[in-house]
Amino acid sequence: MPIYITDETADTSLNISHINKMAGQLLELCKLSDSELSILLVKDSRMAELNEAYRHKAKPTNVLSFPMSDEQSAEDGLLGDIVISVDTARREAQQNKITLHSRVTKLLIHGLVHLLGYDHERSEKDYLLMEEKEKILSDQLLNLQRRNPMTILAINVDHVATLRQARGIDEPDPVLAAGICELAGAVGIVVHLREDRRHIQDRDVTLLRQTVKTKLNLEMGATEEIIGIALDLKPDMVTLVPEKRQELTTEGGLDVAGQKEHLREVIARMTAAAIPVSLFIDPDSSQIQAAKEINATFVEIHTGRYADAVSEEEEDKEFALIAEAAEEAFEAGLRVNAGHGLNYVNARRVAALDTIEELSIGHAIMARAIFVGLDQAVREMLAQIT
Ligand code: PXP
Repeated sequence: MPIYITDETADTSLNISHINKMAGQLLELCKLSDSELSILLVKDSRMAELNEAYRHKAKPTNVLSFPMSDEQSAEDGLLGDIVISVDTARREAQQNKITLHSRVTKLLIHGLVHLLGYDHERSEKDYLLMEEKEKILSDQLLNLQRRNPMTILAINVDHVATLRQARGIDEPDPVLAAGICELAGAVGIVVHLREDRRHIQDRDVTLLRQTVKTKLNLEMGATEEIIGIALDLKPDMVTLVPEKRQELTTEGGLDVAGQKEHLREVIARMTAAAIPVSLFIDPDSSQIQAAKEINATFVEIHTGRYADAVSEEEEDKEFALIAEAAEEAFEAGLRVNAGHGLNYVNARRVAALDTIEELSIGHAIMARAIFVGLDQAVREMLAQIT
């Protein structure tokens, strides 16, 4: 049964699909996946009205629950409504130094536990029982997210094509590599169709579009030729990257802030073709804000400087920048991926950030695959990051 979310706040920093996902997972944990739940996101002013009407308290509160108490509703699987004040949630998040979405999830858990019949106001014993139930659900939710390997690893198979092109023959085939990666547990395949076609060829992307069963992410420079190919191909998403002919690999993030109007137009064209756009950016606040402003769906945070760090101190500093940027992007309502230079040692720390949905990894996996086989190399990476 569905979860209905009504957002009365028009607050663009809210990530409704994330809230929906959390609510779905909570129902699953409570073995209530067949039930129907309504979530209303409001401002403080509306919450104060509801609090006055139902609890005779003329001030806003963070969350209110309205169970469906009649027998027929219960039989029909209707759980009830949870109302959350986003203004209050934001203030509480700031006080507790956590993200708005972490706070909203906590309030969702509190509201849901009320709908299940717990009530902390009944007695001291009930208070403790409710607190314990919330803690259990909160831990289970975290584990559920952490344990889900199907949401975390996308593999870049450009390196297979690089080897093929070095010989100028037709193997190894990146299309076959993509299939093996998917069978081993990758949830996405990434290829970069460069203007100079130095590795991935047009034939590869055509075949990958037909064969990839998970998600095909086309990495590309925002040039007219490649935009045309992407619009025809319709990958599941595109990641816009800066592209220089002389570079060995992508060297840095896109300067989104410096070419907002061009990128805004590219995103609008992709959006019209139902292709979500990710922007590959350095962990930099001005780039995140620009990405949000021009309606990107995702940002991919460039982890190259973190991966290249030569001392522990530098690595910690670069990691903190990634963590902060991911937090800021997530709070802005962007979906957040990360990648570049990640390997079997340094990927784990990035994967543990709860704001990051997916890692995009290529070189380290292909390098290991030469010695242990591709299937094994993918599985070993999954074991590191999930
Ligand atoms: N993300 C982007 C945007 C990239 O350009 C690359 C390299 O092709 C990667 C991730 C993967 O980097 P690596 O091959 O170092 O894992």
